[in-house]
Amino acid sequence: MNTKQIMELDKRYVMHTYARIPLVVDRGDGVRVWDKDGKEYLDFISGIGVNAVGHCHPKILSALKEQSQKLLHCSNLYYIEPQAKLAERLCSLSFADKVFFSNSGAEANEAAIKLARKFGARKAGEGNCYEIITMKNSFHGRTLSTLAATGQTKYQKGFSPLPYGFKYAPFNDLDEVKRLVSEKTCAVMLEPIQGEGGINVAKASFLENLRKFCDEEGILLIFDEVQCGLGRTGKLFAYQHYGVEPDMMTLAKPLGGGLPIGATLAKEEVASCFEPGNHASTFGGNPLVCAAALAFLEIVEEEGLVERAKKMGTYFKDKLKRLKERFSFIREIRGKGLMIGVELEFEGAEIVKECRREGLLINCTSENVLRFLPPLIVEEEDIDRAFEILNKVFSRVC
Ligand SMILES: Cc1ncc(COP(=O)(O)O)c(C=O)c1O
Repeated sequence: MNTKQIMELDKRYVMHTYARIPLVVDRGDGVRVWDKDGKEYLDFISGIGVNAVGHCHPKILSALKEQSQKLLHCSNLYYIEPQAKLAERLCSLSFADKVFFSNSGAEANEAAIKLARKFGARKAGEGNCYEIITMKNSFHGRTLSTLAATGQTKYQKGFSPLPYGFKYAPFNDLDEVKRLVSEKTCAVMLEPIQGEGGINVAKASFLENLRKFCDEEGILLIFDEVQCGLGRTGKLFAYQHYGVEPDMMTLAKPLGGGLPIGATLAKEEVASCFEPGNHASTFGGNPLVCAAALAFLEIVEEEGLVERAKKMGTYFKDKLKRLKERFSFIREIRGKGLMIGVELEFEGAEIVKECRREGLLINCTSENVLRFLPPLIVEEEDIDRAFEILNKVFSRVC
């Protein structure tokens, strides 16, 4: 089928929830993808942070091949070797003692919300301690409760009534968090670096004092690292930049090396609030995706991708700073490692379109923030090429 036919078929049969770009990505390799007509693109959005080890990494493919010839699925009725191994690996790499597996970031957060409520119920009795403070401009997913947790009304419109029990504080504003907390509060939940909200980085003093405050009040601290976790920011987990450990953390996007997986990590005293029957997922932690995730973590380690994200992030940011000096419409460059936002004085959609025309895939979030999430395997030459394209497109817009 050609591009036009695929677009027509999609428009006819797929629900219209995505404002799709007229591009059919046909195949990928490393930091590059090709469309149906064979046109090559540098992929600096990598499936919105999913393809962190690049497209079709041979080690992911061989893990999939090996596992698929053995067992694709068997249900959580039984013990699953790759799932147990993956849980052990994630715990040994992080603050956590236990993991619950699901299939997406929203589901990972949904499990975290349920577990926080269970924790609150254990502390103060059912229905007495269930409120969660989240941040304005946050994004936690599209299920009803993660929508309610998301501090942006634009996503919530039309879906009332949303589950109650969420209050929103401005990001980086501890006084406001304190003001919203009551005896009903069981947790504070936030992204250490907000992704969809425009690449906003938490201040160290905010997270440090928030941790102290949560400890004093007996409230859980939950970090949503669905977008910023697993190496992207130049540390394996974003919380490690701050030396502030959460009680729970959620992961998803890159963990499955391109396959769907979500993970909710918790310390033992929190995880123990869940008992058999409290939460479940048919596909969560399925053997195939866990085999891919184990391969993903091995690649990150073997190829030194955390260090690489830091190094390449600095290289890329230096280039972007040069663009900022040249183009006054660039307001700010934000982010850590290879999670970078460039705030413009105007909406970014046209720039995204022009970049695509020149063979560079990026996206725009919060209307005017160009977002760059390249694969962590990106090379200096790829960044140089992206810089050339941005320079050309910015000059044209100018
Ligand atoms: C920080 C954060 N949390 C949760 C989600 C939801 O993840 P998913 O789309 O896999 O449900 C996203 C998705 O962009 C995200 O960026």
